[in-house]
Amino acid sequence: MDVKGVAALVTGGASGLGRATAEKLVEAGAKVTLLDRNGELAEQTASEIGALAAECDVTSPDSVTAAMAKAREAHGVARVCINCAGIGGSVRIIDRKGNPMDLDHFRKIIEVNLVGTFNTLRLAASDMSTLDGGEDGIKGVIVNTASVAGYEGQIGQAAYTASKGGIIGLTIQSARDLSSHGIRVCTIAPGIMLTPLLMGLPDDTLKMLGDQVPFPKRTGHPSEYGSLAMEIVRNDYLNGEVIRLDGAIRMGPR
Ligand SMILES: NC(=O)c1ccc[n+]([C@@H]2O[C@H](COP(=O)([O-])OP(=O)(O)OC[C@H]3O[C@@H](n4cnc5c(N)ncnc54)[C@H](O)[C@@H]3O)[C@@H](O)[C@H]2O)c1
Repeated sequence: MDVKGVAALVTGGASGLGRATAEKLVEAGAKVTLLDRNGELAEQTASEIGALAAECDVTSPDSVTAAMAKAREAHGVARVCINCAGIGGSVRIIDRKGNPMDLDHFRKIIEVNLVGTFNTLRLAASDMSTLDGGEDGIKGVIVNTASVAGYEGQIGQAAYTASKGGIIGLTIQSARDLSSHGIRVCTIAPGIMLTPLLMGLPDDTLKMLGDQVPFPKRTGHPSEYGSLAMEIVRNDYLNGEVIRLDGAIRMGPR
């Protein structure tokens, strides 16, 4: 799909991987809306890169519906939806004394990462289904964000791993479900990417993380995520696939 003049939504677009993708979409001529819980940062990022901001919580049907309505009014129905909103967190299933994890921790991460991704996917797909697919019948494309933790969850990552594993499983299912509407779905599973999440870490910790990567021996750049997301959007034959973006890292237990 050529994104020139096309409306695009990027959840979690205020920061990190979402921001990097939004920048590439804007450069390629798309009309981009950043859907993010951090309204202030979303406004700031939007004004820096030439996008629109719509504050919303991806877990809320009403909030995402309202944000998409704002985006639609400004740019028309989106043909592109990039789902980057997500949170992390590390808690062991039972602690050293054998006490079980607070179930709310598990619920919270599943809610934001998995339910939130599905919420925007279903609402964006519903909007896309109203579009004209043209000669090829192509109406839209959705890119989700999993993680290598969805395959090799490390100690303490039960909730995060389950949330990202859910997104991985949803990829081929949703591509099949939406195929009759001319909507493609792919997922990117990043390794260790240098986003604000990691930027606060000391240099030696960052080097240690980079050294775990077979090649290139470094953390990933958000722009490398953005480039892959753009290729998925552009390449109409990519569908139902989860692509690792990780320098061949396979995470160890810790
Ligand atoms: N950085 C990495 O190394 C890495 C690796 C694998 C996967 N990921 C995934 O990539 C995605 C982006 O991560 P990032 O590193 O860019 O993080 P980030 O913290 O820089 O950006 C995430 C954005 O999501 C927004 N957000 C969080 N909860 C939200 C909600 N409920 N509703 C709307 N917006 C919400 C935040 O405000 C933030 O702007 C996440 O899903 C993360 O799990 C990141």
